[in-house]
Amino acid sequence: MVEKKIPVGILGATGAVGQRFIELLADHPWFEVAEVAASDRSAGKTYAQACAWRLATPLPKRVAELVVTTTDVPFKSKLLFSGLDSSVAGEVESALAGKGHAVVSNSKNHRMGSDVPLLIPEINPDHLDALTAQRKRTGGGYIVTNPNCSVIGLAMAIAPLHRTFGIESLAVVTLQALSGAGYPGVPSMDIIDNVIPYIGGGEEEKIEIEPLKILGTFEGGAFKNASFPISASVHRVAVSDGHTMAAFVRLKRKASSEEALRVIAEFRGEPQERKLPFAPARPIHVFTEDNRPQPRLDRDLERGMAVSVGRVRADKLFDLKLEALVHNTIRGAAGAAILNGELLHARGLL
Ligand SMILES: NC(=O)c1ccc[n+]([C@@H]2O[C@H](COP(=O)([O-])OP(=O)(O)OC[C@H]3O[C@@H](n4cnc5c(N)ncnc54)[C@H](OP(=O)(O)O)[C@@H]3O)[C@@H](O)[C@H]2O)c1
Repeated sequence: MVEKKIPVGILGATGAVGQRFIELLADHPWFEVAEVAASDRSAGKTYAQACAWRLATPLPKRVAELVVTTTDVPFKSKLLFSGLDSSVAGEVESALAGKGHAVVSNSKNHRMGSDVPLLIPEINPDHLDALTAQRKRTGGGYIVTNPNCSVIGLAMAIAPLHRTFGIESLAVVTLQALSGAGYPGVPSMDIIDNVIPYIGGGEEEKIEIEPLKILGTFEGGAFKNASFPISASVHRVAVSDGHTMAAFVRLKRKASSEEALRVIAEFRGEPQERKLPFAPARPIHVFTEDNRPQPRLDRDLERGMAVSVGRVRADKLFDLKLEALVHNTIRGAAGAAILNGELLHARGLL
């Protein structure tokens, strides 16, 4: 039990990911939103004035009245969740870590840093050991990142396979939701009745490299990435929330689809052992129906924190193929960062 809640700040609080932070933290048992920051376009206004709230739940009244600041003010909260645009996140997050803050970031800028954990608490909590070196470098503060929104779903789905059978190679085709591009995102005239076979910002490259860091090790003071090739092909589709992925996996040790299903369904990690507030009881929900998972039906499982996997079946070219689904702004972004923050607190790192 935590008696007094821990104050936290939200950077990029007005954006798509920032709004999810506000929504998800509204009744959090440990954390309380005390500060909100965004660009100088928003600074000086109340959060309600600065932000065009686009979520289906009401804007929490206490946060609505907070005055938005810029990101260069002194923050009272040690823990800062960042949903900053990547054009500014790199410098701003480094500066705040340099001032002693624990920055838990959604942005791509620091993910591949040599002393920065790219954390999925169920998979690689041991990568937090990298913080010892990082804190020496910064003088005390640190940055922890969560992966790209598609990568979280993909890495969760394949981690049990990699651990048990070893992955030799992987191909993945993504069908990514509109909210992944922030607001206003893709113009409606471009996406209605359409599929766009490209997502800017190096999306394919992120999907081809980030899982290797996550599934790798941190030993002897350095990350050693997993070493199998990944080929990704991404698409933007007219779905509001929820990224779907078709993955094709070649295994080092052959496994039937039944064996694969079993290890995926049994997958658990430190958040489940510790019963962290945002931990889904079952991090991966397995479907055996022919037509699941689907974004509209399955993205909100366990408050959007569970990844769904279905259609696990044998493949003629690879060994197995499967479908995975992740809620991109919850488990793929704000919810993932909150779970990271909870693990940091549970491990005494705040
Ligand atoms: N959307 C997703 O599904 C998703 C998933 C995973 C990761 N991410 C990553 O999370 C980050 C935020 O994404 P988003 O979709 O929420 O973007 P967004 O809706 O465009 O929001 C961007 C936020 O950054 C702020 N900002 C922009 N320029 C700034 C500046 N110069 N100084 C300070 N703040 C500034 C904006 O504030 P103003 O309102 O004042 O302009 C806004 O709060 C990105 O790095 C993105 O790649 C997004």
